[in-house]
Amino acid sequence: MTKRRVMVLGDLPGEGLARLRERCDVTLAAAGVAGEAELSSMVPGFHGLLTILTQKVGEGVLAAAGDLQIVANCAVGVDNIDLEAAARYGVVVTNTPDVLTDDTADLTWALILAVMRGVVSGDGVMRRGEFHGWQPKLLLGRSLTGSTLGVIGAGRIGRAVLARAPRFGVNTLYHQRRRLAVDLEQELQTEWRSLDDLLAASDVVSLHASLHDGTRHLLNEQSLRSMKADSFVINTARGPLIDERALVRVLQDGHLAGAGLDVYEDEPRVVPELLTLENVVLLPHIGSATWETRVRMADCCCHDLITMLADNRIPARALGEVPK
Ligand code: DGY
Repeated sequence: MTKRRVMVLGDLPGEGLARLRERCDVTLAAAGVAGEAELSSMVPGFHGLLTILTQKVGEGVLAAAGDLQIVANCAVGVDNIDLEAAARYGVVVTNTPDVLTDDTADLTWALILAVMRGVVSGDGVMRRGEFHGWQPKLLLGRSLTGSTLGVIGAGRIGRAVLARAPRFGVNTLYHQRRRLAVDLEQELQTEWRSLDDLLAASDVVSLHASLHDGTRHLLNEQSLRSMKADSFVINTARGPLIDERALVRVLQDGHLAGAGLDVYEDEPRVVPELLTLENVVLLPHIGSATWETRVRMADCCCHDLITMLADNRIPARALGEVPK
């Protein structure tokens, strides 16, 4: 049987790609290079796309790709894909849940620790040769033990962040529209709060919601100012959940004590003022960036493409209503 054609838009680690080549006819395209217009001109004749999260797949691409059956997105977030249009065009979309949960939760805690304890500032002091001996008031941070963490979005990653909190002696609250089952709340030692109450009560607020029209600028100037004075905000989910310019203003006037960001509103651009603030730790969207996880993510995508295009079965990770 003629192999079905797959375009891979990303440079992926691991052996998944070799397995995909055995079962499909694979074309490699450079990582994230294609704008939607360019991608639309590239997709005709392809049956599968393996995308990374910087690759937008909108209605135009789906309309141009007459033979497309599946988009396997190498990320858990699928805000780069027009899911509603994909369903209309009969294209299955899969993502990579579960495999990146623990690493992303760990990186969230790395940012919490970094901003509360001045880890990056301390490293800078050493590198600039400014450490002249122990001082009682050198780089005073804030105690993690006994503080309250508010998690917004208690999906897989949010729950993994909550689950790590008791080991640090941190109390937690969470917010999402649907409350978790009571036994899960008990297991996680956490309590549901309205968004307003969570913002007012937390020493650290960490975002784990997915990005859609209802969550864009979830933290705007008003909500940032309603956070406890001297609290911290952490974002390892999606940049547009926070109004980045409002965040700069609220940090500049000292209402918030700091921020730890792994994601940005307009990646890879960053509002320049953020780069000047000492109490902000900035990472280049590396929540899931370990060898182990990135290999697993690539494997998920290759597996789903093979399932759909070589084995003619709908992958278990297919999102939403599966097209007939
Ligand atoms: C995702 O998967 O959505 C992350 O942002 C990258 O791993």
